[in-house]
Amino acid sequence: MTTKRRVFSGIQPTGNIHLGNYLGAVKNWVAGQEKKINYFCIVDLHSLTVSQDPDDLRFQTRSLAAMLLACGIDPDKSALFIQSHVRAHAEGCWLLNCVTPLGWLQRMTQYKDKAAKQESVLAGLLDYPVLMAGDILFYDADEVPVGEDQKQHVELTRDIAQRFNSLYGRDFFVIPKPIIPEIGARVMGLDDPTVKMSKSLADKRGHAIRLLDEPKEIMRSFKRAVTDSGREIIFSRAPEKAGVNNLLGIYKAATGEDETAVLADFADARGYGDLKVRVAEAVIEILNPIRQRYHQLMDDPAELDRLLARGAEQAAAVANPKVDAMKEMMGLVLPR
Ligand code: TYM
Repeated sequence: MTTKRRVFSGIQPTGNIHLGNYLGAVKNWVAGQEKKINYFCIVDLHSLTVSQDPDDLRFQTRSLAAMLLACGIDPDKSALFIQSHVRAHAEGCWLLNCVTPLGWLQRMTQYKDKAAKQESVLAGLLDYPVLMAGDILFYDADEVPVGEDQKQHVELTRDIAQRFNSLYGRDFFVIPKPIIPEIGARVMGLDDPTVKMSKSLADKRGHAIRLLDEPKEIMRSFKRAVTDSGREIIFSRAPEKAGVNNLLGIYKAATGEDETAVLADFADARGYGDLKVRVAEAVIEILNPIRQRYHQLMDDPAELDRLLARGAEQAAAVANPKVDAMKEMMGLVLPR
């Protein structure tokens, strides 16, 4: 008998979920559900590492839950839950903080990028990757399906796990692997194909396709997409082809076709105008049913809460005892 692989991944509830999140992560969570034991987490504690409007954060958290279900997360196959509903995350993060050298955190590129843009940096932002490490480790996850930008955080998680294991108990934590898709791992901004599509820029006109955008808006954003002054529709790493390459990558990830089939689809295209319209059409086709299902789920808040409570219960049953075991190993006295 083969044992099922264990999967953990997370997504922040702030900013608008966009096509990069979908193609880089969520689509793969949905695809892998059948064969594995899955934990998918709405990481609201991570969102607090930059300042938030409380009412907005509450709304976004529930809205994201509805969106993940609409994308195809099946509560019968996966535990979908809100991070702050499971006490292990905040508690266990403290324990991991006490085995993680500061220098490891100061080296994280996302921390450096985000901190450079802020006047006053919160301690939570530096600690962000430790909270994330706990997310993964408390579920004994073997696999962490993420986009390219999270690879360094998963590598740090491995280092923290190894350090804890060498200090306290050889095989206590499973050493997880990042699973990065071959396509869609790094969807770039439509307005600037040199920067990744990001939630923080998702409200900037023409930057992102948000999963809740109406077809007209999607078409408009693709038509405005930055390309180059040539005409060649090819996959290419050349810097000047970054825009076209991004559009073809999105089409490839959206349709699931290989590169030869994608290029064949565009063999009769008359320039970039055609390319943009056809990519937009492929994306609209995937997002239409997701958007409709999202609105249905948001119309039934009691059912949404019920599903989230069930997910949290399943998650807590795994993570809380794991953190209690950590406490014991580290010398804390457990309450009797
Ligand atoms: P977040 O919320 O920024 O993004 C969620 C997922 O979407 C992927 N992603 C992208 N993929 C391709 N192209 C893009 N332009 C793009 N933008 C985002 C991200 O790589 C991610 O997989 N720190 C995490 C959340 C987190 C987590 C975890 C993930 C917290 N704990 C434990 C995995 C395991 C984050 O901020 O993701």
